[in-house]
Amino acid sequence: MNSNKKIAVLSSGGDAPGMNAAIRAVVRKGIYHNIEMYGVLHGFEGLIRGDIQEMKIGSVADIVHRGGTILKTARSEEMFTLEGQKKAANQLLEKGIDALIVIGGDGSYRGAQKLAELGIKVVGVPGTIDNDIVGTDQTIGFDTAVNTVVDAVSKLRDTATSHERAFIVEVMGRHCGDIALRSGLAIGAESILIPEISFNLEEISEKLLRGYRRGKRHSIIIVAEGSGAVADISAKLKDYSGFECRVTILGHIQRGGAPTASDSVLGATMGGKAVEVLLEGKSEVMISHINNDIIDRPLSLAFTPKPPFNPKLYNLANELAI
Ligand code: F6P
Repeated sequence: MNSNKKIAVLSSGGDAPGMNAAIRAVVRKGIYHNIEMYGVLHGFEGLIRGDIQEMKIGSVADIVHRGGTILKTARSEEMFTLEGQKKAANQLLEKGIDALIVIGGDGSYRGAQKLAELGIKVVGVPGTIDNDIVGTDQTIGFDTAVNTVVDAVSKLRDTATSHERAFIVEVMGRHCGDIALRSGLAIGAESILIPEISFNLEEISEKLLRGYRRGKRHSIIIVAEGSGAVADISAKLKDYSGFECRVTILGHIQRGGAPTASDSVLGATMGGKAVEVLLEGKSEVMISHINNDIIDRPLSLAFTPKPPFNPKLYNLANELAI
């Protein structure tokens, strides 16, 4: 790709802290290499409407430390249709933009894949708090979300201790238990329920009772949203153990806030790499964090089945919460 080419960037799907750092890196790295840079507002929805603006050095000033995404985001139904995909591709081609960097989850990557089939060069950058994209060890936003959960639970722990109560805390992650597992291990949760591992509420109640007999007067149970309805889990635990469990659903606070340093660095390095691979002439690739390195891999990898769940952390968390 030579210097008179144009690259656009968009964010899509659920926002994630660190997306702004990635957008900044994409725009500045492109400008550094004399490429005209464009930002698409409101994800694929905005692309279909032609909501595209040129990005200058100053367009991404003062954003590296901010949560959310300055480009806004959306979940687009129209992008699932061929008509929507053609409109989106044409909006880019009409403006002479032949490459698009998509920051989002695997749903957003599917949109990118469709555009590639219509002649656009595409690169996916993994931005989602869920950490659920096949082909990368970590996604932008995951670390911040885990830290948000840890912070919230430390507050809940104060009231749990004062009232000698058990708390069930539901965290996000869609079908993935990574936020629950990482935060649960970090805060020393009594139990962690994740969709990847079946659980037995009678055994969990027994564990709560064992703790109680040892003098433990409060407990924290972290439940990934994909593990089932927390209200039902709470009712069953009460039936089995007699403990009244308070339920807290952390919800969208997990998507907000300033990115951790780790997510800002991940955003910057992945954003920079996305421009680099386009300069090398590559397309239909995703940027991945593998063994502490930032590399590019085929985009199609993200659409393959999830590898078997590695139970290492889960087993450790269980061993530590005897
Ligand atoms: O994918 C990110 C995520 O926050 C998931 O953890 C959650 O299930 C979903 O998005 C919520 O989506 P929405 O913001 O559209 O309600």
